[in-house]
Amino acid sequence: MLGRKTSHRPLVAYRPIGPSDLGILQQLHADLFPIRYEPEFFHNVVNRRDIISWGAVDRSRPNSQRDDLIGFVTIKMVPARESEITDLVRCDPTRSDQTLVYILTLGVVEAYRKFGIASALIREVIRYAKTIPTCRAAYLHVISYNTPAIYLYKRMSFACVRRLYGFYIIEGQHYDAYLFVYYVNGGRSPCSPLEIVIGAVNYVKTSLNSVAGRMWRYDERKPWRWTKCKEKCGVTTTPSQSKRNLVNEGSTEFQCV
Ligand SMILES: CC(C)(COP(=O)(O)OP(=O)(O)OC[C@H]1O[C@@H](n2cnc3c(N)ncnc32)[C@H](O)[C@@H]1OP(=O)(O)O)[C@@H](O)C(=O)NCCC(=O)NCCS
Repeated sequence: MLGRKTSHRPLVAYRPIGPSDLGILQQLHADLFPIRYEPEFFHNVVNRRDIISWGAVDRSRPNSQRDDLIGFVTIKMVPARESEITDLVRCDPTRSDQTLVYILTLGVVEAYRKFGIASALIREVIRYAKTIPTCRAAYLHVISYNTPAIYLYKRMSFACVRRLYGFYIIEGQHYDAYLFVYYVNGGRSPCSPLEIVIGAVNYVKTSLNSVAGRMWRYDERKPWRWTKCKEKCGVTTTPSQSKRNLVNEGSTEFQCV
């Protein structure tokens, strides 16, 4: 579907996904992901049952297509205490209402890539997460070979916090995943003293390298920030993480790949 790069500059609009999008949404997921999604998932998306979504459309297309999805993002809210990143989020243990946004799927049809559409969809998600006072972060999994997606999340200032070995099992093959987090509403857990020391050492090392490489001007434009300390301290690994067998069963957990 829509394989060749579009020849015109699209006039992109963003809107909620609804029942009329069912067929295209299913087709796009089949085209873009190596995994199969259950019909129930699509019905939940279009009927807005526990899943929130945004779609992108190109208003400059002919009338019959101007409302067809060219991109989408789907999310669900999960209780912070039950999530796998409880340890990474600043949570008040006395409160049970704290939540996280989990990004289920994100995709843009090939002809419309590199126009900033995925970035805009992610911005919608972040904006939404910020409007929920109890929300502490948005997070997602991405398969380790998905370079465009990894670049995208880094560019959007998501922190890569974990590498999960063999997290995905696709057609009998094991693949690692990265876990990316974007904190909102003060959700970042405070750095430990050790992390601060490691962060400071890394900073000094980077600065020395930069001076040696005569790149001081570039460095000045990118001041080091304490808020990045989790990312700078490196990615943690959890080999015991529950694995996702995505093809044999069909996905009911709906992770981003
Ligand atoms: C990943 C994907 C959603 C990106 O969509 P997109 O609309 O092209 O992304 P954007 O135009 O917003 O790109 C933003 C940034 O992402 C990165 N990026 C996007 N495509 C890239 C590519 N092919 N190679 C390297 N980096 C890429 C770049 O940093 C880019 O910023 P830049 O254009 O300033 O360099 C799209 O390639 C896609 O749908 N892939 C298949 C489905 C998928 O993998 N979904 C993600 C699952 S986690």
